[in-house]
Amino acid sequence: MNIAHLAKSLGLATFVAPLAIYGAAAQQPPLKERPIPQVVKKDGRYALMVDGVPYLMLGAQAHNSSGWPGMLPKVWPAIEYLHANTLEIPVYWEQIEAHQGQVDFSVVDTIITQAREHHVRLDLLWFGTWKNGSQHYMPEWMKADPAKYFHLIDKNGRPADSPSPFCTASQELDIRAFTAFMRHLKAFDPQRTVIIVQVENEPGTWGSTRDYSPAAQKLFEAPVPAEVLKAMGKPAGAPVNWQDAFGVEAEVNFHAWAVATYVGKVAAAGKAVYALPLYANAALRDPIRPGAPGSYEAGGPTDNVIPIWKVAAPAIDIEAPDIYMNDAASYLKVLELYHRDDNPLFVPETSGGAQVSRFFFSALGLQAIGFSPFGLDYSTMPSAPPAAPTILPAAAPQAGSPAAVPAAAAPGPQDQFAPTAQNYRIIGPMMRDVARLNFEGKLQAVAEEAGTPTQTLHFGAWNAIISYGGGRGGRAQAAATPVNPTGRALVAQLSDNQFLVAGSSCRVDFRPTQVDKHRQFMRAEEGTYENGAFKFIRILNGDETDNGLNLRAEPIALRVSLGVY
Ligand code: DGJ
Repeated sequence: MNIAHLAKSLGLATFVAPLAIYGAAAQQPPLKERPIPQVVKKDGRYALMVDGVPYLMLGAQAHNSSGWPGMLPKVWPAIEYLHANTLEIPVYWEQIEAHQGQVDFSVVDTIITQAREHHVRLDLLWFGTWKNGSQHYMPEWMKADPAKYFHLIDKNGRPADSPSPFCTASQELDIRAFTAFMRHLKAFDPQRTVIIVQVENEPGTWGSTRDYSPAAQKLFEAPVPAEVLKAMGKPAGAPVNWQDAFGVEAEVNFHAWAVATYVGKVAAAGKAVYALPLYANAALRDPIRPGAPGSYEAGGPTDNVIPIWKVAAPAIDIEAPDIYMNDAASYLKVLELYHRDDNPLFVPETSGGAQVSRFFFSALGLQAIGFSPFGLDYSTMPSAPPAAPTILPAAAPQAGSPAAVPAAAAPGPQDQFAPTAQNYRIIGPMMRDVARLNFEGKLQAVAEEAGTPTQTLHFGAWNAIISYGGGRGGRAQAAATPVNPTGRALVAQLSDNQFLVAGSSCRVDFRPTQVDKHRQFMRAEEGTYENGAFKFIRILNGDETDNGLNLRAEPIALRVSLGVY
C-alpha cells in the first residue's frame, strides 16, 4: 500500500501522487509474503510456479494505451467476461519517469490494487527503451535529446526510428528505471499479484538490419564473442568476425546480440533486486518460409537467434512468440520453434478470434505456461456493451409457447471475445490441475487441422483417438464444402485407466494398445470444475458414449474410467 492508498483507506485527504527519488525504499507495512513466482524445469518440462505450485496463465492483453487509471473501467469487465486469470498490461517508462530522476509508481499501484480486487494476476509489460522496435515510450525529456539518447544509424547513414543498442546513456537510464520498478514491485506486492514481467516490447528494429554507426561498425568487424559462436553451433577456433562467421545472417545475428546484450543488462539489474520471471517477446519471421534478413524485425528473439538471446541475456527466462498467423501450419510451426529444451513455451500475444482460439489447445499440448490474446478490452468502444438484449414475450409464456429469446445482435466485442471466453470457461476452474498434469507429463492436447480427420495420443496401455468433422457426432458428415476447423481436445491421464477429457467439436475415444482387447467405458462422468475439484453432473451412457465421447461446440469436461473385455 502506498501513501495515497493508505490515506484513502484511513479516510484522509488525498495526497499528491507519491514521487520518490531513485534509491528511496518504499515504506510498506509487513504482510505475509507468498513465494516469489518462478519458472522451474523438471524432467525436461517447465512450469510457472505461482504460490508454490504450477500455474497456467489464461491471459488477455489490454490495448497499448489502456494502462491508465481512467481506462481500467474498460478493461476489467472484459477480463471478467473472458474468465481470464491474468491481465497483461503495459507500464510506461514515459509515465513513471515523466520528470528525470523522479519515479512515480502510483499508476502501477492502482493497477495492482484493482487486479487484487478483481482476483486477477498481472503480467506487467515494461514499455521501456523498445516498443515494437521504436523508442516511442522513452520519457519526453529523453526523446527531446536525440544527440544524447541516440537512434541507430541505417545503411544510408540516417537515424532510424529505433534506439541504438549501443547507446549506454539510454541503457543506464533504462536499467535505473527498470530496477526502481522491480524494487517497487518487491515492496508493494508481497501477495505476488504480479507473476511475470515482460522486459521491453518486441525489441529490435524495423527497416534496418543493424546499427551502421561507426562505433557499431567497429564491433561488427571485431571477433564474434566465443559464447555466441558456440551457441550458434560454430566451431571454436581462430577469432572470426561477424561477416565471416555468419554470411547472409551476419547482420541480423549481430543486431540480435547487440539488442539482447542491452536488454539482458536491464533484465539482470531488475532481477537482482526482485527475481520475478522475466521474458522477451518477438515479432516473428515467417516460420515456414523465412524471408531474407530485412523482411522481418531484426534484433528481437526471432526463432533463428534464440540461442544468441540465451547467451547474451541469461536473466530473461523465456523467449516468447507473438503469433498473429491464422493458418495451422504456420501457427504450429511457431509453437514448435519456441518449445525448446532451453525455453518454456509461452504465447504472450496472439489474435483472439475463432480461427486461432483452438491453438490454445495446441499450445497446451506443448506444455505452454500461458496463452494471451491481444487487445481484449473495451477501450475501442464507447462503453462496455451490455449482454445481447432479450426480447420478452408480451405476456408470460403459456405452456408450449416460445420462451424469451435473445435478440440477434450485430456482431460486437462479445462475439470477438467469445472464442477465448469459451476456452477459459472450461479450463479456468481446472487450471491448477491442467498445469500440474502438464508439468508431470501426463497431459496431451491437440487442435483440429484441415485435412486431418483423426489424431492419436499415446498413453501407455491406451491410445486416445480424436476425430473431427464427420460422421457420428462430429460436424455434419456430408459437408461437401470445406468448413473451418474448430475442434480441440485435451486428454490427461489421472491414473492407469482414468482420464480427464476436455474440449469441443470433436469425438474422443480410447483404444487399448493390447490388440486382442476392446475398450469399455466403466463410467463416463460429465461435470464441472469448481474451486479446482471435479463436480459430478451426470453419467454419460448410451448414445452419448456408444461410439466414443462426443464433445459438442460448447466445451465440456469429462472424467472417464476405462476397462477392457
Ligand atoms: C504487437 C505489439 O507487441 C503490441 O504491443 C501491439 O502493438 C500489437 N502488435 C498490435 O497488433
